[in-house]
Amino acid sequence: MTKGNKTDFSNVYEDTIRAEAYSRLTFDKTYYLAYRDLPTIIARYTKGKNALDFGCGTGRSTRFLQTLGYRTIGIDISEEMIRIARQLDPAGEYHRIDDGDFSRLPCASFDLILSAFTFDNIPTMERKIRLFRRLSTLITPNGALINLVSSPEIYTHEWASFTTKDFPENNKAKTGDIVRIITIDIADKRPCDDIYISEEDYATVYTKASLRIIKKYKPLATGKEPYQWVNETQIAPWTIYVLRKKT
Ligand SMILES: C[S@@+](CC[C@H](N)C(=O)[O-])C[C@H]1O[C@@H](n2cnc3c(N)ncnc32)[C@H](O)[C@@H]1O
Repeated sequence: MTKGNKTDFSNVYEDTIRAEAYSRLTFDKTYYLAYRDLPTIIARYTKGKNALDFGCGTGRSTRFLQTLGYRTIGIDISEEMIRIARQLDPAGEYHRIDDGDFSRLPCASFDLILSAFTFDNIPTMERKIRLFRRLSTLITPNGALINLVSSPEIYTHEWASFTTKDFPENNKAKTGDIVRIITIDIADKRPCDDIYISEEDYATVYTKASLRIIKKYKPLATGKEPYQWVNETQIAPWTIYVLRKKT
């Protein structure tokens, strides 16, 4: 497969069964590590309370930001995910958008843009760069963009919430390749197709989108949590990038 040039890829979240199953996910087990440090990270790098949740899905991450006191708009490309987000949070603001169409959102007005797991499903380097460029027009001059994504290692190990052992081909994945992973925690046991990208190539994406990495976090479990960890105390399943616009 050509690096970053795959086009035969469809968003697995455009699917009623998957959307319903995803909406039942909470903040426990492996997902606990994705969200655990976000309140501290967000408080450290942002001022102001206007947030955009890019790829809000069924609204788990949007409601999370709301509980931190952020006025949050959730946007997503999937009709199904947005439908359920609205059902779960009728008072919330959720919009279905076409890919990269941020025309209904005000420029330079968000203190924080959170993207939680969204870029795991966005193919090609070019599309990622284009989306980051457009997202960066929406943040305030001192605003931060937090990109929470799967670490490359998630696709080659076992986890409290995920399995990848049936997909040995993940071991050979290069940037742009499809990698497969099954979420054990939900009823829908069909594999999820993600797009692999190395950390080096993420750095290139940010540079080309005129963003700089302020900080990169790789959250590990301490072992004291009430979960049966598999690799989480030694290998970080997630990577959290804090990004700002280059000045
Ligand atoms: C794994 S879900 C994460 C949902 C949510 N952020 C959470 O933490 O529960 C990823 C979401 O990104 C959305 N997505 C993928 N590509 C997108 C795009 N180009 N624009 C907006 N949303 C997108 C998918 O439809 C899906 O709902």
